[in-house]
Amino acid sequence: MKNLSVFSLFLVINISAVFSQNHYGKNGMVASASTYASQAGIEILKAGGNAVDAAIATTFTLAVTWPFAGNIGGGGFMVIHTENGEVTTFDFREKAPFASSKDMFLDKNGKLKSGSNHNTALAIGVPGTVAGLYDAHQKYGLIPWEKLLERAIQLAESGFPLPKSLANDFFQFAEAPEKYPEMQSFIKRDGKVVGFGEDWKQPALAETLKKIQKEGKKGFYEGEIAEALADYIQSQDGIITKEDLAQYEAIERSPIQSTFKGYQLYGMPLPSSGGVTITQMMNMWEQLEETPIIGSVQYYHILAEIMRIAFRDRAKYLGDQDFIEIPELEKLLSDEYATELLEGINFDKAGESTVTEIHSIHEGQETTHLSVMDANGMAVSMTTTLEQGYGVKMQSPDLGFLLNNEMGDFNAVPGKTTNNGQIGTPANTIEAGKRMLSSMSPFIITKNNYPFLVIGSPGGRTIINTVFQTILGTTVYDYPMAQAIEAPKIHHQWLPDRIIYEEYKMAPETLKALEAMGHEIQMRSFLGRLMGIKYNAETEFMEGAADSSSPDGGVAAY
Ligand code: GLY
Repeated sequence: MKNLSVFSLFLVINISAVFSQNHYGKNGMVASASTYASQAGIEILKAGGNAVDAAIATTFTLAVTWPFAGNIGGGGFMVIHTENGEVTTFDFREKAPFASSKDMFLDKNGKLKSGSNHNTALAIGVPGTVAGLYDAHQKYGLIPWEKLLERAIQLAESGFPLPKSLANDFFQFAEAPEKYPEMQSFIKRDGKVVGFGEDWKQPALAETLKKIQKEGKKGFYEGEIAEALADYIQSQDGIITKEDLAQYEAIERSPIQSTFKGYQLYGMPLPSSGGVTITQMMNMWEQLEETPIIGSVQYYHILAEIMRIAFRDRAKYLGDQDFIEIPELEKLLSDEYATELLEGINFDKAGESTVTEIHSIHEGQETTHLSVMDANGMAVSMTTTLEQGYGVKMQSPDLGFLLNNEMGDFNAVPGKTTNNGQIGTPANTIEAGKRMLSSMSPFIITKNNYPFLVIGSPGGRTIINTVFQTILGTTVYDYPMAQAIEAPKIHHQWLPDRIIYEEYKMAPETLKALEAMGHEIQMRSFLGRLMGIKYNAETEFMEGAADSSSPDGGVAAY
């Protein structure tokens, strides 16, 4: 007993030492995974840009200062709330190249060639980021495109002191050149790996960004860069061609819209599953007869059961709607269906997930989110990704940017579902030109037609659940932004049938009680790296926070 209390004291100190801070601003705010990038966004707001301009500058800067996930070689999703109160979204998800096929990662016996859908150039999807940023700027931006890349180019050209988290990763890449041959020119200068605190210059990336600055999206998808990119990918046995690049298009889509206790919720439509799945979970939560005390055993049990059901439906039905019919979609989003699902939950005992119902896939945890709000009520919630950390870990030294391994988000083995979480449902199998299902969940919540919460996270499928719990934290439990982000979170994704919880954050008694209800539990060091802005209509202050699990994340405000 004595030992336990000493241990608990240590935990309290440990948590308070890493707890993220609330930051406050009146005129504008940016929260992102890199302090440099957040500052770049604020510079744009100060120069007269709006939230869309600032989000674009932040994203280009993330591609320089947070190569772990920031990118121009990947894709993502953006939700925009305009100053007129309209909400729209941009889908710039990567696409399967035209030469793709549903069996492309299988051997002649129909088995997955181990790692082929993540660790080879075949895993690279046609990048969408530059098209998404450019199109959003064309329609909603205020200040010239060229200005939005200035800070990113300057940081790539002049360099910046390499932060510790990147330096640690660089060291590991340097230690295993046979495993990461294509990373060596990325992390080394004059034959030596760039170390912690040393200036890291990226001249090739600076030149690529200058081309995009001058020529817009054409500078990336056509001409010299497109040619060099296709040649490089093919030299690594990938299949992306110049035509794949020339024909890539970002798509403006209507958001998934719902209401929750007087709030309006706006999320991404398919091919991101975030909007649909979170809406389904919020609908179930809204119909609970009693609101559980946050942090109680009952709270986590109900969360887990709601997540279990919503993730079953995600795996069963969701994929790229431009390629598959989903007649069940309306039902999934309806209150009637939420009532039906809630009736099936046992409030005293864990449900069961059976493998015969669906199948699942490994999904990278490494993505990045940014939230922006300006003084006129324009807000942007944007999540972008390379899929895994540093994507496929390949880059042409002439172009200087990393490529995604997003093809790994498709169901690689059609028809195969396992207890370990592999999904094989048809909705998300590979087809030429199709977008792979995503879990990215940028959300904007409004109250009285004005942004109340701008939120999102990396974390693969855990994104959906961390965003869900953070929305509950701010709307139901009235937590300030940082407290909602840091509140202990769990994850359940139907299969594997278990609750994942965050290390040091939940009381041993709570975990034991959940086990007694029939839940299997598993620890993880953290869930999500949320970036959020909450607006207080009474004080007219924005309150922002970057998750303490984000090593270089930061909020900039003025
Ligand atoms: N690659 C992570 C996601 O799209 O959800």
